[in-house]
Amino acid sequence: MSLFETAKHLKHGLTRSIDVKNRNVRVIGLMATDLCKSRCRHCFIWNKKEHSHLSVDVIGRLVRDPAVTRKTFFELTGGEFLEHPDWREIIKLVKDAGNDFVVLSNGMYPDELIEAVKELGIPNVYMSLDGLGETYKRVRGVDCSDNILRIVDEIKDLTNIHLGYTITPWNAVEDLEQVKALAEEKGVEMSVGAYQSPEFFDTVKPVGKISPEYEPYLDEFMSLNNTWMDKNLSIPCWNIRTKCYILGNGDVFLCQQKSVVLGNLNEKSFNEIWNSPETIATHEEYAACNDCWLACNRPLDMQLAYAGRLVFSNNRLNKMFGEHDWDLVLDAYRNHNSSPGS
Ligand SMILES: C[S@@+](CC[C@H](N)C(=O)[O-])C[C@H]1O[C@@H](n2cnc3c(N)ncnc32)[C@H](O)[C@@H]1O
Ligand code: SF4
Ligand code: SF4
Repeated sequence: MSLFETAKHLKHGLTRSIDVKNRNVRVIGLMATDLCKSRCRHCFIWNKKEHSHLSVDVIGRLVRDPAVTRKTFFELTGGEFLEHPDWREIIKLVKDAGNDFVVLSNGMYPDELIEAVKELGIPNVYMSLDGLGETYKRVRGVDCSDNILRIVDEIKDLTNIHLGYTITPWNAVEDLEQVKALAEEKGVEMSVGAYQSPEFFDTVKPVGKISPEYEPYLDEFMSLNNTWMDKNLSIPCWNIRTKCYILGNGDVFLCQQKSVVLGNLNEKSFNEIWNSPETIATHEEYAACNDCWLACNRPLDMQLAYAGRLVFSNNRLNKMFGEHDWDLVLDAYRNHNSSPGS
């Protein structure tokens, strides 16, 4: 890694460690609805018996909440975000508040999504693509991959598109290669995550290790997935002090993995929940939690561990934060060459 890249990681680590220290809310995952018409095998949100949508009133209060600043990034997701009856209204609220955001989608509603990018202006679109054609259908029960190809073609010059590939027991490295080739051909970003078992997703199949043929395609974070699964990797959980998830029923979740409820937005304001002694105590309680390796929560922990290890010795970090595997993180970064996250 060049000196310039190392300096970028250090700067990023310093900024984000200030966010962690001050508990600045940097990302809110708004799981605005749990409705979804896919039939995924890796996520059973579609199978929930009772559904709830976050009300526009609650979201209106949220974007004006004192704990939410213009630097708070919103992930508009679900379920399938476009199943929310007022999804356009939600986009307008977040946009009018001046916040940056991404819409996550399974590609089931291409006309609506394309129109929304053109009419409402969506700065970032994340499309899940775990394979094409038959593979997409095997993983998700319905085939929306042609929709996704159309969406990419029609909006790639109007917004930042990100293709998200999840390694699951139902797709293979050849599928990843196809999606990667497609992302390169279209000139859009792509990232690779792996099957885990968030409690809210009601997953059925146990989580397994990532097969070795995927190795060349994994970034430094995913490259440590199997080490974590072998229980040979532990780092502190800092990300929860800058990110949370909000569900359709108003519950504020600690993280994507655990259905730990910090409070409910139908009863209290976000500020009251986030800055309550109970939430601060919960963040302390989970500071040493290492129960997931989810790509939507833990990369920040790895970025901070890396930046910390660049500055301090193993012993010093152990004294400050308890015994952790700082050098494994250092090695993973040395074997890769990626830029720090946002
Ligand atoms: C829960 S979905 C919501 C957005 C939208 N419905 C979609 O599928 O893109 C967000 C992302 O989580 C991923 N995901 C679902 N189940 C997962 C699991 N068990 N482990 C890891 N990622 C999972 C999906 O593939 C998708 O990229
Ligand atoms: S991954 Fe997305 S599309 Fe699949 S069931 Fe879950 S919410 Fe629906
Ligand atoms: S390590 Fe624990 S607290 Fe942190 S995100 Fe994962 S499950 Fe949540």
